[in-house]
Amino acid sequence: EKGNYRHFMAKEIHEQPEVLGHTFGHYLDLAQESLRFGAAEGIDFANATRMTIAACGTAYYAGLVARYWFERVAGLPIDIDVASEFRYREAPLTPGQPALFVSQSGETADTLASLRYCRAGGQKIASIVNVASSTIARESDVVLPTLAGPEIGVASTKAFTCQLAVLAALAVHAAHARGRLSEDEVREHVGILAEAPGYVADALRLEAGIERVARDLSHASNALYLGRGTNLPLALEGALKLKEISYIHAEGYAAGELKHGPIALIDEDMPVIVIAPHDAVFEKVASNIQEVAARGGRIILITDERGAEEVGTQSAETIVMPTVPPMIAPIAYAVPLQLLSYHAAVFAGTDVDQPRNLAKSVTVE
Ligand code: M6R
Repeated sequence: EKGNYRHFMAKEIHEQPEVLGHTFGHYLDLAQESLRFGAAEGIDFANATRMTIAACGTAYYAGLVARYWFERVAGLPIDIDVASEFRYREAPLTPGQPALFVSQSGETADTLASLRYCRAGGQKIASIVNVASSTIARESDVVLPTLAGPEIGVASTKAFTCQLAVLAALAVHAAHARGRLSEDEVREHVGILAEAPGYVADALRLEAGIERVARDLSHASNALYLGRGTNLPLALEGALKLKEISYIHAEGYAAGELKHGPIALIDEDMPVIVIAPHDAVFEKVASNIQEVAARGGRIILITDERGAEEVGTQSAETIVMPTVPPMIAPIAYAVPLQLLSYHAAVFAGTDVDQPRNLAKSVTVE
């Protein structure tokens, strides 16, 4: 039921603090400040040399964010691909190595076919699914559920942030198993992860301002999303969300690739959404913002206070987020992107929960 909300998507966006709390509660022992990954013991992270991740759509973008976590925090190299490519790529597999599949429905045909390919190659199969009784869950050695509850809106929102929650906690678990984090450092990370639902609640309070920005955005026919580091997958996710429910053509791009082509598109009619918390790569993104501003591009900047100060707000509409620890920033920054596309779609008058041509679960390839 939609309760007081106009659409399931709005309800699901607003449920995030609660369902993230449930999902983290499942994997974090807050009293002990430790991780609960009994189920993941079947994956030998200590001796793994690589891990494959395959998924589709939004779940794939969650995997792309996780690549940064697994590589940086756990020192584990990640091979990641969209499942529809992975299944036919004939990637050589090392038996015994872990392969991880991310899927809200647990029924996506290409993701399932990729899982079976890795199974045939003798790999250890883990999955992150929202539907515990799904085919992907049944065919996995290790099942790590997201506790997002049923997601009805075709556009994935709460499932995405819950996937990020499980992936972040799993990366910390892997880092500990690989001797990359001490007990104290694990405790510190657990403390940081546990704060994510609170930051998501703070981000939701920015809705009125985001709705104003979305009104203008709803008149655009194209939009560009830019990000660097973990904000690149968020740019891809923001663009996907906008196109699928508002039918505005949107592209996500690595901010550093701007000069290599897409900058040719910049003019007064092109909104450029930049996802740029004041993190380690902020200075680089700030110079990309200047490049867009110099060409008269319409910038919508999603940043924090420090970032807003440094960029100066003359040429940008700015959505000022709370200052979030880098590891959980992708979870918090998903929220303004969801709200932006939701309100743009409402202004555009599209069918938000059941966009044309789309199915919630893609069970044919
Ligand atoms: O059920 P799954 O997570 O496997 O679905 C994957 C994609 O079909 C899904 O994320 C799709 O891209 C959504 N409509 C995105 O909002």
